[in-house]
Amino acid sequence: MYEGDIASVLISEEQIAERTAELAASIAERYPEGAPEGDLLLIGVLKGAIFFMTDFARALPIPAQMEFMAVSSYGSSTSSSGVVRILKDLDKDIAGRNVLIVEDIIDSGLTLSWLIRNLSTRNPASLEVVTLLRKPEAQKIDVEVKDVGFDIPNEFVVGYGLDYDERYRDLPYIGTLHPKVYSS
Ligand code: PRP
Ligand code: MN
Ligand code: MG
Repeated sequence: MYEGDIASVLISEEQIAERTAELAASIAERYPEGAPEGDLLLIGVLKGAIFFMTDFARALPIPAQMEFMAVSSYGSSTSSSGVVRILKDLDKDIAGRNVLIVEDIIDSGLTLSWLIRNLSTRNPASLEVVTLLRKPEAQKIDVEVKDVGFDIPNEFVVGYGLDYDERYRDLPYIGTLHPKVYSS
C-alpha cells in the first residue's frame, strides 16, 4: 500500500498499542469512577485523532463518553498558520464536566492552544490534553500537556490518522513521508 511513498516506519502498530495502554492506565487514575462531574468526557479532534481516540477510549479502564470536534488550520498542507476554524462544533454542553482533549499530534501547537482557549470559555470542571505525538522542535507556542505518547523529530509524518493532503490516514503505523511526495 502507498508503495514507495513511505520512507520509514517511525512508530509501529505494536509500539502505538503499548504506549496507548500505558497512557490510558495512568490517566484513568486521575478520574475516579462515580465522580460528581460524571463520566470523563473525551473530545476527539477530527480528523487526525480518530484512530487514537477509538483505541485510547477502549484502553481506558474507566467509563468515558465521547464527543468530537472538527477543526482545521488554514495554511499549506504541510504546515499550519495558526488561524483555526471550526468545521464541526460539539453537540453538547461541557460545563461542569471533566474534559480530556484527545489529539494525534502537537506540531506548532497552534491548533491545541486555540482549542484550549475556546473550550475553557465553556466552563468545564477540568480540561486536560492527551496527545499521541509531539514535535518539540516545531512547537511555536507553549501548550501545557500532561500526557504525551511520543516526542518525535521534526519530520513530516503520516499514518494512524495523520494525513498528507487527506491521504495515508489509514496506515496502521506512523511513518515518515518520502520527500518526493510533497516536493513534486
Ligand atoms: C493536524 C493535526 C493536529 C494539528 C497539529 O490537523 O491533526 O490537529 O494539525 O498542528 P499544529 O500543532 O501545528 O496546529 P489538521 O489541521 O491537518 O486537520 P486534520 O486533523 O483533519 O488532518
Ligand atoms: Mn488535526
Ligand atoms: Mg491534516
